[in-house]
Amino acid sequence: MSIRAAALACGLTLLTVACNPAPAARPIAPSSPPVSPTDGGSVRHFDLTAEVATLTVKPGLSIHAWTYNGSVPGPTLRVRAGDVVEVSLHNQLPEGTTLHWHGLAVPNGEDGVAGVTQDPVPPGDSVTYRFLASNPGTFWYHSHQDSASQVDRGLYGALVVDPRDPSRDATDTALVYDEWPLALEEASPPPPNDYSWVADVTFSVNGKTGAAIEPVRVRPGQLARLRLVNAGYFSHFIYLDEAPWRVVALDGHEVTDGPATDEAVAVGPGERVDVEFTAPDHPMWLRLLDGMPPAADIIVPVVPEGAVVPVAGPAFARRGIVDLATYPARASDSPWPVGGVAKRIFTLNLSQAAAGHPTPSLDQTLYEINGKQFPNTGTLDVAPGDLVQITFVNHTRMDHPMHLHGHFFQLLAIDGRPPAGVIVKDTVVVGAGQTVSIGFRADNPGWWMLHCHELYHARGGMMVLLRYLGSPRLAQLGGVFHDQPD
Ligand code: C2O
Ligand code: CU
Repeated sequence: MSIRAAALACGLTLLTVACNPAPAARPIAPSSPPVSPTDGGSVRHFDLTAEVATLTVKPGLSIHAWTYNGSVPGPTLRVRAGDVVEVSLHNQLPEGTTLHWHGLAVPNGEDGVAGVTQDPVPPGDSVTYRFLASNPGTFWYHSHQDSASQVDRGLYGALVVDPRDPSRDATDTALVYDEWPLALEEASPPPPNDYSWVADVTFSVNGKTGAAIEPVRVRPGQLARLRLVNAGYFSHFIYLDEAPWRVVALDGHEVTDGPATDEAVAVGPGERVDVEFTAPDHPMWLRLLDGMPPAADIIVPVVPEGAVVPVAGPAFARRGIVDLATYPARASDSPWPVGGVAKRIFTLNLSQAAAGHPTPSLDQTLYEINGKQFPNTGTLDVAPGDLVQITFVNHTRMDHPMHLHGHFFQLLAIDGRPPAGVIVKDTVVVGAGQTVSIGFRADNPGWWMLHCHELYHARGGMMVLLRYLGSPRLAQLGGVFHDQPD
């Protein structure tokens, strides 16, 4: 019986017998397939409750945040390679939400993208995600329903996969950079569908700014590893006073042969850079080279265990930025064979158009791929096993950090030249005016997002779907659950 017929029958019998209404539609949930640990790993269960909380960002500044378990970032989920990660998401927010595992090549049904792989989890509901953490690395998780605003409000956290063998690092700290929209400070949260509120921001690291930033504790003479994660929408250029460091992983892929440098590392939206240095016996400060004024508030003390945290000294002289085109770091897990020839080649022209407004602002600018906005950007069709090459041509005057779900790729060329090293990533910043080519093997069937991780650009249209021929699409945009990935 159709819903209409059920309602009619119901109406006719209303006065005489109790009526069973048509069953409400059930949201499509992650498929949560059974999967076994490998290499002696175990099943690690976590509960994440998405809930509203008021957080103190620095003395005198409180924010109405959306959180996991009451904190921003949410808890750092730490597992070992070979473990099965099982996460139950409990939604206590006023809106539907999802969890996406940024940088992990999970099965399509676990990818957490509203309107593509599942429906948002309605308020009051719970779902469980399950996947194997096969490789060590720094990853992160965040909502992928209305993600431009949900991530901005605080729905993100780090996920660290340690190697099976205990780390030789003396200390190991995840630092998640972001920015808070200051409108969240007001008593009444900004109305939905008004995005003018995002413009005025303060930067944050692990949710805090200024004097509230927690120090990183190190052991003098021993190696210290920092896992720098960018959950925000601005690129950051991060450097450490005095000590040279080495880049040891990019987007969760270990690299070797990265020379020591005292230059800053660039961490674009969605990217992760792991650095390692020998800890000195006195305090140092981790700072931003960014030109924007809020950067001055982001100084992380790096302090020997047990020592008092002094106020920051003066910044060291301005320095350069590590250039991935010339840094000779080598990843060992390249997804692109030497001399590989692409079976499928796509060119994505990134451009921008004002939506007929005299002064385009965040909510009025349209971002395009090949002259179209999502969901009209079509699909990039591949078959399992194909070698796929994608070239991004950035016609705009801003950077676009392009992120591919479900796969990792090798950087094949930047402005036509292969990089010096072997660089494997899931997110690549395509600079203003730049052309960047990436390559990967299509080895994870499903429908996968490829989008700008400045999530307001994604919402403005800069998204496209990678589609495996023969794979079903698990969820649709819109509908009763208002599926909207960005
Ligand atoms: Cu970090 Cu489509 O996501
Ligand atoms: Cu962009």
